[in-house]
Amino acid sequence: MAKILLTEENFKKLDEVIKNNKGKKGALMPVLHEAQKLFGCLPIEVQKVISEKLNMPMAEIYGVVTFYSQFTLEPKGDFTIGVCLGTACYVKGAQKIIERIKKEINIDIGATSPDGKFTLEATRCIGACGLAPVLTVNEDVYGRLVEADVPGIIAKY
Ligand code: FES
Repeated sequence: MAKILLTEENFKKLDEVIKNNKGKKGALMPVLHEAQKLFGCLPIEVQKVISEKLNMPMAEIYGVVTFYSQFTLEPKGDFTIGVCLGTACYVKGAQKIIERIKKEINIDIGATSPDGKFTLEATRCIGACGLAPVLTVNEDVYGRLVEADVPGIIAKY
């Protein structure tokens, strides 16, 4: 089950991270990376602390967090399913694969299942165009997919 780790101890560690980076040029990115590692995600409560202590506007921090796909506002599931929507995969029917996954696990792109098991994401080209359409589950890559492959892949997890 994916959890947000908003413990006092983690906030203390975040303070340290901020102290070590404050005043440095480009301090925000390393602070966000460390904060995401500590808390598992970057919810508004965490962004507020960073905003106050780094003296940066919330809007700027929120903008960065939502722009980069490595940051998330909510905790991710144990397994992240990434469906490539790059050109090659798109042409070979990635959209259908996504629709089938949505139906199987009942979540939308960007969402995490209520049991915390799966997060569904659309990704850019992962460099495996020869295997299009491609999906990944954490580090595992599946290629040359047809819709009917989807339930079997999900069942493995
Ligand atoms: S477009 Fe999907 S792997 Fe390149």
